[in-house]
Amino acid sequence: MALELRCPTVDEYDAFRRSLLSTFGADPDADPAGPERLRALIEPDRIWAAFDGREIVATAATFALRLAVPGGELPMAGLTVVSVRPTHRRRGLMRALVQRHLDDARAHREPVSGLWASEASIYTRFGYGVAAHVDTLDLDVRGRTPAEVAPGAPVDDVAFADDETVLATLPPLYDAIHRTRAGMVSRTPAWWRLRRVADNALWRGGATARHHVIAWRDGVATGWVAFRQRSSWRDGLADGAVEIEELVAVDGRAEASLWRFATTVDLFPRVHYTYAPVDAALPWLIADARRVVRRRSDSLHLRIDDVATALAARRYAADGALRIEVRDEPGTPGYALTIEGGAARCVRDDAAPDLSMDRATLGSIYLGGVAPSLLARAGRLQGTPAALRLADRAFSADAPPWCVEVF
Ligand SMILES: CC(C)(COP(=O)(O)OP(=O)(O)OC[C@H]1O[C@@H](n2cnc3c(N)ncnc32)[C@H](O)[C@@H]1OP(=O)(O)O)[C@@H](O)C(=O)NCCC(=O)NCCS
Repeated sequence: MALELRCPTVDEYDAFRRSLLSTFGADPDADPAGPERLRALIEPDRIWAAFDGREIVATAATFALRLAVPGGELPMAGLTVVSVRPTHRRRGLMRALVQRHLDDARAHREPVSGLWASEASIYTRFGYGVAAHVDTLDLDVRGRTPAEVAPGAPVDDVAFADDETVLATLPPLYDAIHRTRAGMVSRTPAWWRLRRVADNALWRGGATARHHVIAWRDGVATGWVAFRQRSSWRDGLADGAVEIEELVAVDGRAEASLWRFATTVDLFPRVHYTYAPVDAALPWLIADARRVVRRRSDSLHLRIDDVATALAARRYAADGALRIEVRDEPGTPGYALTIEGGAARCVRDDAAPDLSMDRATLGSIYLGGVAPSLLARAGRLQGTPAALRLADRAFSADAPPWCVEVF
């Protein structure tokens, strides 16, 4: 039977979620609000499924997001829930869904597409490059005194927050931080309600419901940690873990206060944080930094679709002119990027390039997460020494990009 690719009707959202979660090896009944979330967070014409007869055998959808870039932000099509049933793999269904997503993003004038990949090697072929990283942090404070994390640091007050307080306090704080940190994506009120406050057994994974602890200074919120607790005992001794979903702070004092809180929860001597920024202060807040075990991983993958618009949308740390060739661009391959006072103009230009790369590599350097000269050393980018020196300085950002939102 021929496969059909179309938007599912709202009545088919439950089957959509079941197909998706089964493909990921998760229990579809553990997330009963999934169909409602789809309805609330994604436009109905931005959800696609492949049907084999009446059965949904592949899924994908697009979140309409805004991506923070150095000195600004721009619309981003967030590719999500990509899945193909094992019975229908390697027949080109994912390729067809990605193409549908990209065509649709262009129609919505979204110059970039972003995603989190289940496997890092899948999406380079579609022009996506790793634009940001996260660190998984593990700390075991057993046998230590609490003062060993953030000793002597001035602290903000910390307090548990109920859902109402979270919804009233954190969205504006997040928005303010989002504007200053490349890689962060916008959150709408529905996103906060349905993804950051709502909870389900699937997300809990055997741990507690999510808690929010907010840091306060003179009555003003300065950050928060969202976490779960996983109780565990070994040989009669407490061995529980605080599992952090996100720890977000306006400044170092707030960050230290939240780390201090997270590392001093009685009966929970282990702290685990999967999506920490690569510049988390924790290793510098503890005397014995070797106790913080770090593993780096790719987070946001970016595909720069409208090169001229995207390159002009961010600010740069050095002035100058660069001719950039994007090798897999159909038609005229080159762009002239002119930076003055940190702001850029970018136009098509087919003169000889002084930097040449494929689209995925452009995605990798775009937020300043990796130096162009490093990618040149890895053979992913070619450039004259002068162009590489300028590109390294110009594309660098105030802080390493961080995408705390897994979508
Ligand atoms: C990953 C997945 C979506 C691929 O779907 P698919 O329909 O089999 O993929 P396609 O047939 O369209 O493959 C397109 C290309 O991607 C490659 N590819 C597919 N899956 C891949 C993988 N896991 N790793 C690396 N390459 C992969 C194919 O080999 C093919 O390459 P080619 O164009 O050079 O021939 C599917 O295996 C799946 O659902 N996996 C489990 C859920 C998952 O990981 N989803 C991704 C969420 S980000």
